[in-house]
Amino acid sequence: MHISHRQHFFDHLAQTSDFPLALEIEKAEGVYMYGPDGKSYMDLISGIGVSNVGHRHPKVLEAIHAQLDKHMHLLVYGEYVQSAQVQLAKALADTLRLEAPNPSPFGLIDNVYFTNSGTEAVEGAMKLAKRFTRRREFISCYNAYHGATQGALSLAGAEFFKRNFRPLLPGVKHIQHGYLPDLEKITGQTAAVIIEVIGGESGVRVPEADYLVALRRKCTETGTLLILDEIQTGFGRTGSFWAFEQYGIYPDILLSAKGMGGGMPIGAFMASQQIMKVLKTNPILGHITTFGGHPVSCAASLAALRVTIDERLSEAAIAKGELFKNLLNHPEIKEIRGKGLMLAAEMESFEKLKATIDQCIELGVVTDWFLFCDNSMRIAPPLTITEAQIREACATIIKVLNS
Ligand SMILES: Cc1ncc(COP(=O)(O)O)c(C=O)c1O
Repeated sequence: MHISHRQHFFDHLAQTSDFPLALEIEKAEGVYMYGPDGKSYMDLISGIGVSNVGHRHPKVLEAIHAQLDKHMHLLVYGEYVQSAQVQLAKALADTLRLEAPNPSPFGLIDNVYFTNSGTEAVEGAMKLAKRFTRRREFISCYNAYHGATQGALSLAGAEFFKRNFRPLLPGVKHIQHGYLPDLEKITGQTAAVIIEVIGGESGVRVPEADYLVALRRKCTETGTLLILDEIQTGFGRTGSFWAFEQYGIYPDILLSAKGMGGGMPIGAFMASQQIMKVLKTNPILGHITTFGGHPVSCAASLAALRVTIDERLSEAAIAKGELFKNLLNHPEIKEIRGKGLMLAAEMESFEKLKATIDQCIELGVVTDWFLFCDNSMRIAPPLTITEAQIREACATIIKVLNS
């Protein structure tokens, strides 16, 4: 007989809100998750941008098994030559051998520092930027989310999330994503601007092409590092392997996590050797981690990277995103924003959206809203979703909207 874990979940798992979704999931495969009773749920949010290649992609599983048969953890980050790490670092560098009309003054990104999570990638990048520029000031966007540790939290625009955790890092200024006049705030004092190519938790905000070009230029002019947080947008999500490829710019530091692991935990901050080498001296061990770049996560990540490229998932995401936009044409949906399979469907109010989401989940389609945008439905399914599955998901959403 199946024993429900529900009570233990509430009694023993630390809670971060009084209203967790509390859906019991026992198994997941492709775009579907399954409850203990066998009920299936189509995953339209990919565990918040993680399962880009779908749940339990066979190539990812194969790579994990093969790595388990070789070794797991050996030593803290960066000491031994481990093939899983090295192959992944090389493969990531290969994705970054790109010519951009608006390049980085520091050359191509060819160095990868592996972390355990997105927020740790942000922390590492902030330390790297301070150490490299010898400046202390950071600029990030209002309504951006870069993670929950204290450095990353300092970058958040929302006072609501920061107030009771102060003191945080001083010297953080904010700009409005996509708003050209705010670029004047970037000066010779600024160590780095950290920004998402497409604002995620602000509700999928796609900037005009000239905005990112102007930002790149302003950073170069003022000697400020441009850190692109592609933790949500990377690994094929928006129609190219990295979202910045669509904007003719190139970052100084690039961040990845989430979809990078194919379902395993891993993140990275990446830069050219010229920048990254400062972590070696003064002090030695400028950033260290025990588990960063865990070999099993690296093996999974390399498989996910290859699947994304070999199965042309980012290219396919463009047409799939368009199909969602066409099928979700309904008077209750005011606007659909986004690129590829990173979409937000805006409704009139949170109340209307929440009622819609609750009924969709009831009918086996999981979606949610955004941290800083509670009137828009998150649509970010695995990139492997088929046309038939998109039609099925949209039919459910439309059915709920018509009810
Ligand atoms: C853009 C962005 N940056 C950073 C993070 C933090 O990543 P993690 O939750 O792995 O620490 C997130 C997580 O949602 C994110 O969306």
